[in-house]
Formats: sequence, structure tokens, C-alpha cells
Amino acid sequence: YVIKADSIKAHVQPTMYGIFFEDINMAADGGVYAELVKNRSFEFGDNLMGWTVHQQNVGKGTVKVIDRTTERPENPHFITLDVTEGTYGLTNEGFRGMGIKQGENYSFSVLARQHASSKVKLLVELVDTKGTVIGHAELNPDDTNWKRYNVKFKATATVEKASLNVWGKHTGSIDLDMISLFPEHTWRNRPGGLRADLVQKLYDLKPGFLRFPGGCIVEGRDLTNRYQWKKSIGDIDKRENIINRWNTEFKHRLTTDYYQTFGLGFMEYFMTAEDIGADPLPILNCGMACQFNTGQLVPMDQLDPYLQDALDLIEFANGSTDTKWGKLRADLGHPKPFNLKLMGVGNEQWGEQYIERWKVFEKAIKSKYPYMKLVSSVGPDPDGSKFDFLNATLRGFHADILDEHYYRAPKWFLDNVKRYDNYDRKGPKIFAGEYAAQSVNGGSPDNKNNWQCAMSEAAFMTGLERNADVVNMASYAPLFAHVEGWQWTPDLIWFDNLRSYGTPNYYVQQQYSVNKGTDVVPITLNNETVTGQDGAFASAVLDGRTHELVIKFINTAKTAHQASFVVKGTKGLKPAGTVTTLQSDNLDAINSLTGDTVSPKKQSIATANNTIKLNLKPYSFSVIRVKLN
Ligand code: AHR
Repeated sequence: YVIKADSIKAHVQPTMYGIFFEDINMAADGGVYAELVKNRSFEFGDNLMGWTVHQQNVGKGTVKVIDRTTERPENPHFITLDVTEGTYGLTNEGFRGMGIKQGENYSFSVLARQHASSKVKLLVELVDTKGTVIGHAELNPDDTNWKRYNVKFKATATVEKASLNVWGKHTGSIDLDMISLFPEHTWRNRPGGLRADLVQKLYDLKPGFLRFPGGCIVEGRDLTNRYQWKKSIGDIDKRENIINRWNTEFKHRLTTDYYQTFGLGFMEYFMTAEDIGADPLPILNCGMACQFNTGQLVPMDQLDPYLQDALDLIEFANGSTDTKWGKLRADLGHPKPFNLKLMGVGNEQWGEQYIERWKVFEKAIKSKYPYMKLVSSVGPDPDGSKFDFLNATLRGFHADILDEHYYRAPKWFLDNVKRYDNYDRKGPKIFAGEYAAQSVNGGSPDNKNNWQCAMSEAAFMTGLERNADVVNMASYAPLFAHVEGWQWTPDLIWFDNLRSYGTPNYYVQQQYSVNKGTDVVPITLNNETVTGQDGAFASAVLDGRTHELVIKFINTAKTAHQASFVVKGTKGLKPAGTVTTLQSDNLDAINSLTGDTVSPKKQSIATANNTIKLNLKPYSFSVIRVKLN
């Protein structure tokens, strides 16, 4: 293989490899949002979803759900707990249980209001599956007006599926709402924050961007249940809960308890993006509900509120604190702008209806904020008629960035490594916004995050990298999945209530991201790009920051590959470098909560005469780094 280190073909954008976040598979509520109480504000389902009302030892009483829709339409329900004898109350089951860690402090909070002359005390207990108390605290609500009460306590055991008792002691009546329990230790230790282990996994990807909040949930099954960013910021008890678009998705994996509390809302997304060094990329509804569901459309003459949401979001993210929305950002604790440069208009929308609406968004956003780059959807069928229509039309309108999605067989990824070789270099940039190789087929619950899929993605990504002048962004999807509450496979990171693991696909994404370099240089075999000859796929970049050459090489063959990389156009190579390898002889190999089968292994390598000689194992993805003289 010959690498011409002095022949730069393209610059790699800092945004090249990023993250696609969607609240699917319990990614947010029950996932990265560390709230442990399910249905804290009594808005899910029949209002008591997740709660069991009962007595402790000897006790009598009632729990009534009260509706105050007129007064508080965004959080209409609370409960009245009447204790008539002994100790009476209710238990929360958590999201598939509550993951509790021994020695960790937990922060309980509640909005409460005593009825006149009542003095109901609250006893809070964390219990394991046998009912043994593993942490407790007491509160004495003392006001007949709504007031928030907080108490912290330590857990004495690690339990994957704990539950939370909230007992009323002493006869009387008390109103309760927003019953909440968080671990004290969250990402950056923000109160009411995010699960640290899961955000750490995102941080470790060193992502160029964070796309949020989806995915189809941007659109909603219907327009009432679309994602509205303005309802996702500010006090958490004012964020209106809605049913998640992925509730009851796929009959064989029914989840009837999937709601969005928006505890993870737009402010949290922006701050997380900032924390992990990623450019924020919000995707907004463009007046169209999910076309796989109701496909509701907002009439063109009623599109204004949707457009205004987009314009206001830019002011919220970037505006000075003298502006209405910029001031709100500051009031929420972030006076510094978020430096928003990218925004998506719609997700997987198609047809003339999309183009009509897209044009309105494009014109208004560009005339007010010419620096904004807009991401435009080209539909979910990369080889079909919807795609062709949108691709041609949006190119005709000189769209900035086209968002392509593909969930295909591993073979498709190998066969499509040249997909971008002939794209118009002067046309729109490409965002490979959602992709994953599927071991069985799209929609199958049996898809596995196996090594064959991950390796085929690695091979395909050489084509993204070689074409970095056209492909500016790429993200695997979906990102997260709870092992007991998912709708979609495969997914990049799996977790239960206490643990998480990166799939082989995760490590592929990570290797590309941490080795993205700055400039693409050619790597050839017999003067041809390396796109599958004898099962080999390769790309090469220079890293201008470290003055290194980085070669990515995928050997998809079942035999080892003796490779010799001759580097031309350089004063020479340093005598030593490294190779990091992901490999398994077993194409079905997967990682799990109990350990990784496929994970990066780093070794030193030697160079001589501007040449690197390596024995590349069967079914392997290698990243070679060597400093240039
Ligand atoms: O990633 C899962 C779903 O796939 C996304 O919500 C949607 O955009 C695509 O169809």
C-alpha cells in the first residue's frame, strides 16, 4: 500500500464524528436522566402508573388523584394522601426498578402542602426486592402552601431493582407532587442531573457534535405530541409531560409506560454538548408529524409558530443577554452563548410538503442568521424514490447539508464504500445522520451489535473519511438502549440500572473519532483506492496537531493479511509508532454488561525505510499511528 503524505485531498471537519441522541429505548427517562422515580408528577397513563398504594404494617388511608387542569395545564395532577390510622402511603417501582449503590447519597425531594390542621410526616424508604430497608429519611412538611422539601440519605446496599416507599405518618391529609429521587453523584454533580457513567461514555467518544432530540420524536406520532423545546426548559414541574412517540412501538416489545418528562430538556442538551466538547445540533419540527404514523401536516398559513420556535431557539442559544431568549438562557444559569451554528429542519420528512415547509424555514432563518448551516432531511430510503426526489430538489435549492439515513445489512455497507466518491464536490455537504448495520434486518428484535456489523461499519467509514470534503458529519444510531426497555436494535451503548457497556460498534465509532486527524491523504494499492480488494478497506489522514500519519485498515477476510505500507512524500517516519486493533475471529462476537469481547488493544510497532510492515489479523480493524519527521 502506498500513502502519499504530501498529497492532501480534503480537510477533515472537527465535526466529522458525532453523536445522535434520541429518547428511544429509555435513553432519557429511565436512562441518562438520573431521576429514579417513574411518574413523579402523576401525569403518566392512569396517573398512578408506577405507583402502588398500600399500608405499612397497620395503617389505613386513601390516595386520591386531583386534577387542576385549568389552574396548571402543564402539570395538572397531584395526589392527596389521607392517613386515617397508622402509616399509609405508596411505593414507586422506578423505571424497571431503581439502581441504588451502596454508600451513595440520595437526594429525595417533594412538593407538598399540608391540609389545614394536618401534620402528616413523611417517611421515605428505599427497599430492596425483599422489602429490606436500605436507606431512609423523614420530612416534616410544615406549610399549608405548596413548598419543596428536600432530604438526603445514604444507601446501605447496592441493589439493581430497589423501590421507594413514601409513607404518611400521623393522621391528616397532605397534597404531594413531583416526588423525586436522584443520586447525589451525577455527571458534573449537577443536582437533578444525568447519569455519570452514561455521559462519560459520550465524553469518551470525543464527539464533534451532539444531535438532539431525535429522530422521530422530533416529529411526534401526531403534532400535539411533537417535541417543543420551549416546553423543555425552566422549572421541571412546569415541563409538560407527553407520551413518547416510541410508546407501544412494535407489538412484540410493548412498552405502555413510555413518557417524556423533559427533565432532560434543551438546556441540558446544550450543556451536555458543551461539557463533552461537541457542537450542538438541534433538529426541529417543521410542521409535519411522523410520516410513518399519522403524517399530520400544519397548513402553510399556520406554520408561523413552528418557524418562530426555530428563530427563538437561535436567539436562546446565541443571543445577547439583552434579548428575550438570550436573557432566559442567562436566567437559567448560562449567560455565555452556546455558539449554535447548525440546526436541522425536520427529520425523515419527504414529498412536496416537506419542500414547501423547508423553503419557509430556510428563507427566514438564513435572512436573520446567515451564518447558520441548515441540516435538511433526504429521507430514510437511500436508494429509493423519496431520496432521489429530495436529493435532487434540495440540491437544486443549494441546501447546506443533506442528512442521509441507512439501516442496512453488513454487506450493503461493504458494497457502498464508494457511495460518496462521485458526489458533487460543489454541492451540499453530507451528514450521514443515522446508520447502523443490521445483523438480521431492519425492525428485527434479533439484531445484534456483533463484530460483523461493527467491522462492516468500520470498512464503510473509510469511504466517509476518504470523502471528507463532501461528508462533513456522521453518527451511528440509535445511541442508547436499556436492556429491559428497548424498541429498536442494534444500539451503540447498552445499560441496565447500574451498569453500561460499549458495543463493538461503539469502539469503531470511538476509534474513528479519536483518530480523525485533520487532512485526508491517499492510500492506494496498485494506484487504486483500497475498497475491498481481497477484503481490505483503508483510508489515511494526517494529524496536523501531532504531526502524525494515521492509517485505518480493515481486513474483512478470514485470513491474516501481510501488509506493507510505504509512505511517500515525507522526510521520513519516526522509528516507532502504535497500532490499535479491534478484532475477533468470531463474527458473532458481542460485548455485554459482564464484559467486553471486542475492545481496542494498543501495541507498539516499528518502522524502517519509510515503511510499516504488519501482519493484520483476520476480521480486524487497525488504526496505525506514526509520527513523521
Ligand atoms: O434511530 C431510530 C429511528 O430511525 C429514528 O427515530 C428515525 O429518524 C429513523 O427512522
